[in-house]
Amino acid sequence: MVLYTRPPTVEVYQGDPFTSPCESLIVPVFQSPDGKPVVDAVRDLDRSGQLKGASDLGFFKAGVGEVFKVYVDGKLVIYVGLGRFDDEWFRLLENARRGIAGGVKQVVESARCSLLVLSRLNLDVAREALIAALLASYRLEAFTSERRRLIEKVLVDRGDLDLGYVLAVVEGVYLARDMANAPPHELPPRRLADMVKELFSKHPNVVVEVFDFDRLVKEGFGGIVSVGKGSSEKPAMIMLHYRGSSEPPLALVGKTVVFDTGGINIKTGESIVYMRSDKAGGAAVLGAIWALSKLNLKANIVGLIPAVINVPSGESYLPSDIIRMWDGTVVEVTNTDAEGRLIIGDAIAYAAKALNAREIVDLATLTGAIVVALGPLIAGLFTRDERLREELLEASRRTGEKLWPMPMEDDYKQWLTKGAMVGDIANAGQRVGGAIYGALFLERFSHGKPYAHLDIAGPGMGYEASNIAPAYWPDKGLAPGYGVRLIIEYVLSRIEKPRAQASS
Ligand code: BES
Ligand code: ZN
Ligand code: MN
Repeated sequence: MVLYTRPPTVEVYQGDPFTSPCESLIVPVFQSPDGKPVVDAVRDLDRSGQLKGASDLGFFKAGVGEVFKVYVDGKLVIYVGLGRFDDEWFRLLENARRGIAGGVKQVVESARCSLLVLSRLNLDVAREALIAALLASYRLEAFTSERRRLIEKVLVDRGDLDLGYVLAVVEGVYLARDMANAPPHELPPRRLADMVKELFSKHPNVVVEVFDFDRLVKEGFGGIVSVGKGSSEKPAMIMLHYRGSSEPPLALVGKTVVFDTGGINIKTGESIVYMRSDKAGGAAVLGAIWALSKLNLKANIVGLIPAVINVPSGESYLPSDIIRMWDGTVVEVTNTDAEGRLIIGDAIAYAAKALNAREIVDLATLTGAIVVALGPLIAGLFTRDERLREELLEASRRTGEKLWPMPMEDDYKQWLTKGAMVGDIANAGQRVGGAIYGALFLERFSHGKPYAHLDIAGPGMGYEASNIAPAYWPDKGLAPGYGVRLIIEYVLSRIEKPRAQASS
């Protein structure tokens, strides 16, 4: 397989839209307070008055997601509703994303090229609309016998968009989607590591280091080794280092379970196919670092991607085994299906102690419990650090990647120790409070560093979301690349220079 589908190319075109080389035009339209499309703003494009007519008849109201298609002068003109322009700011950005993405979904199978009419929008709104258009064009192309169509080219009618930023973001999300949705045997840990190396071979500002199985054993990564040893495809940890400054690094840790059968505590039921996306955390870290490396930021960032396959076999770790983790903590295995915390626990400890990280953020499809609590569209945020909480929530509002704060309840810490018969702590407890248990377990490995855990089991996997997901997510319940935008915005908020000029 190839890891990483290229997004459509983007070019600026400022001539007459009806003589552009594209066969389709996508024209966003706001809704006025009286519930009608603001026809005046696009009157010059409405040459034969169809939009005006549809408005007069009440046939098109320009609500978010509404679409009105007409064929004019050899072009398919797709008017897309953006909702009320006096809406609250973050909602406006999301409305623009959804509106444009809905329009793109109308043409994506039939058009090679689409011209986006963005010149009448505020610059930030236009940027978000463009990003969403490109994200909506995504198709998982690598695994069909016939190549499915993508829009090949997108034209935009304004020259002031920061296309370096836009393309960095979109490429990062595409990469994360490809990785998160890849079938397990297309992407076992070693091959993933080789592909990541290959990907960054042309990015000299990112150093890729792979910890192979022997090294993981030798250096005492007991969590990664125990979970991963049951498969003939042995585990590996990928370390990506983007060194744009000399301060201690910001560490990003991404759970990468290439497939989670549950191990000896094997999973049952149909939804197990979604466990190919139990690598969505690692995919988000990979995609974010890909994007950040293109933005020439003054930041020091390390990505840690511990990669395993969790399967039952004669070599698998067993319930009641004890594991000596990288930092010396002895964990009793009470459930082999609570494997994510074992692999990222090692990586978090390594970030805290070996890398002396300034702060640590992990993304992990950690628990079914968080999906029960927050549903398929919202990730859980666990942190005791107020600044981390505020900046991550702010990044969430800006990007539309939904995140909700969850408690780190001290009284529940007793569960960790009281559940272990022979070890220091148990890897799993009872069903109640399962997501908090996972967060408290991981926190122990952060060794006092500012730390945030994002349980992305819902939006990371696209699990149970296909009928309610925004139009810029991929179809068929595929993983949407959740977290890439969140991390990029978060990192940008952490460095002085607000938005650096991008390199190509
Ligand atoms: N990868 C799963 C979490 C998951 C479950 C994500 C369902 C999406 C949908 C994780 O490794 C897991 O199996 N967690 C267990 C933990 C339990 C054994 C303590 C769970 O949530 O059941
Ligand atoms: Zn898992
Ligand atoms: Mn599991």
